[in-house]
Amino acid sequence: MGKRAMRKAQVDPGLVGRYLARTVYEIDTRRVLVRSGTRLSESLLRGLSRHGVTDIWVTDEVMNDLEIRETVHFETREITRTALQNVLTNAANPAASPVGNTRAVVDAACRLVDDILHNDHVLHNIERIRSWDAYTFEHSIQVAIISIIIGRELRLPPEQLQRLGVGAMLHDIGKVLIPQEILNKQGTLTDDEFDVMKTHARLGWDLVHEQFAMIMPTSSIVIMQHHERLDGSGYPHGLPGGQIHLNSRIVAVADVFDAMRANRIYRKRRMPKEVWTALTRDAGRRLDARSVAALFNRVALVSQGEIVRLSNGMLAIVTEPSQGAPLEPKVRVVADEADTPIRPYDWDLRGSGCIVETTLDRWPAKVRERGELGTLDAMVT
Ligand SMILES: [Fe+2]
Repeated sequence: MGKRAMRKAQVDPGLVGRYLARTVYEIDTRRVLVRSGTRLSESLLRGLSRHGVTDIWVTDEVMNDLEIRETVHFETREITRTALQNVLTNAANPAASPVGNTRAVVDAACRLVDDILHNDHVLHNIERIRSWDAYTFEHSIQVAIISIIIGRELRLPPEQLQRLGVGAMLHDIGKVLIPQEILNKQGTLTDDEFDVMKTHARLGWDLVHEQFAMIMPTSSIVIMQHHERLDGSGYPHGLPGGQIHLNSRIVAVADVFDAMRANRIYRKRRMPKEVWTALTRDAGRRLDARSVAALFNRVALVSQGEIVRLSNGMLAIVTEPSQGAPLEPKVRVVADEADTPIRPYDWDLRGSGCIVETTLDRWPAKVRERGELGTLDAMVT
């Protein structure tokens, strides 16, 4: 198989016979479900779905010469996950140790900052949310990573990055006090329900001040202000831009970005073009323009290894995201507009007039029927 080349794929019967490129862990217990290197069978894939796993990494021949690099170490992600899990499960328990809470979260934030500061990636590929039910939890980790990347790009000092990271990890902690039926409601919230949902900002702020000994004000302010918008249209206070702390403005951008990219129970993730349009439209009006620019300069909108449909109709895989031009990455074109596999070729979309139109969770049926990558691979001679 050569180098470890892989791509992210949605759990789907089309993956039967492929090999798992990364070990899958159970979401709650972190127990190993399936080890990397395992050949995927139909029953194994069904089992993964039953455990709420929606995306996995599989080995991929077309991507043979590409290596996907991680933004933070696996260990850092695990430490962050454990710290957050403890905090979120203990949040509503007054008997929990406040000092312990603070230390674990601050330690996790320090590690995230350390990994990101010592990372020489020009562009980061941020993983998409893997499961439906663990949304708030996974989202908090992603928002912390993205916020620190933005903060680094804005040249904030390490101590501020760390406080930003703590605030970002805890930004939605108030949601533990929101009734489940509102939090997980499928469909639009009524006005009354939305009013209840909005209280998570203030409730979260109160909670950390009660439970987190010595939390820094520049961390906790993020919990209160992450839904405030520059034009005063946000909540809970409808503050104008000048009164919203920079940390809160950064987390607002990371929060909107990650929420749009995640699959939720009640809606599919937004396409990169929609995310780009929405964020650039709001930059300077509702969202901090410098933070939006920093985000697109450092975080890939379409990740390496994603299957994409180009605006000329061709089907391709992203080989390298493009800095500052998120919809114009380098790609490997693999099929034509009718999904007929062609001899793959590499193409840099920057300035070509062609952009990424949509991303696909899996290969179209026609490509799969034709033996998918096996056939494509045979054509690369
Ligand atoms: Fe929130």
